[in-house]
Amino acid sequence: MPRQDRVTPLETLRGKAARCTACPLYRHATQTVFGEGDARARIVLVGEQPGHEEDLAGRPFVGPAGRLLDRALAGAGLDRSQLYVTNAVKHFKWKKDRSGGKRRIHERPAQSEVEACRPWLEQELWLVRPEVIVCLGVTAARSVLQRRVTISASRGEPLTSPEGYRTFVTIHPSAILRVPDQKNREAEEHRLVDDLRRAARIAHHAGRAREEETTR
Ligand code: URA
Repeated sequence: MPRQDRVTPLETLRGKAARCTACPLYRHATQTVFGEGDARARIVLVGEQPGHEEDLAGRPFVGPAGRLLDRALAGAGLDRSQLYVTNAVKHFKWKKDRSGGKRRIHERPAQSEVEACRPWLEQELWLVRPEVIVCLGVTAARSVLQRRVTISASRGEPLTSPEGYRTFVTIHPSAILRVPDQKNREAEEHRLVDDLRRAARIAHHAGRAREEETTR
């Protein structure tokens, strides 16, 4: 079979995740939003869960938070096509807009829902084997690190996940969008760019060191 016709392990996993009923969230979501990107990425970005637009498109970070993230990645000299981008929870959790509008309002996933989804994230990480994981927000950080963290205490610290991945925690792009004052919003966006730049530098060095080791 020509190489491009082969189904990759990530695609097989995506197919299985599309039928996931491990928690109740699948009942009210349009579809599973699985991770996407370079299957050999040095950096994996983990968000919280898909939002309204991601749920409809079936792709992570394509809504307003995704646009901010893309801008921050560009600022850090990173191209999204070189990364693998996924979420801790793969179904959209939402409630009705009480004003009667059509837009569905994001609800934070319960810890039980994060836990139910963790096997998918675990397998994605195992298949991609990144040098660095960047957790966007506390839900992602708690899922990856398997413990409670706060952004203020853990941001910028090189951490290690139970599976041994170098892990960084930073603010979620949606939290930046909620900052009311434009100046503060811009400052937060700059901090996100700095965090991503740092993760990129460490991933680059770790990747080079690994390559040298394997060619020795
Ligand atoms: N927020 C997330 O955490 N993930 C997405 O995919 C979109 C918004």
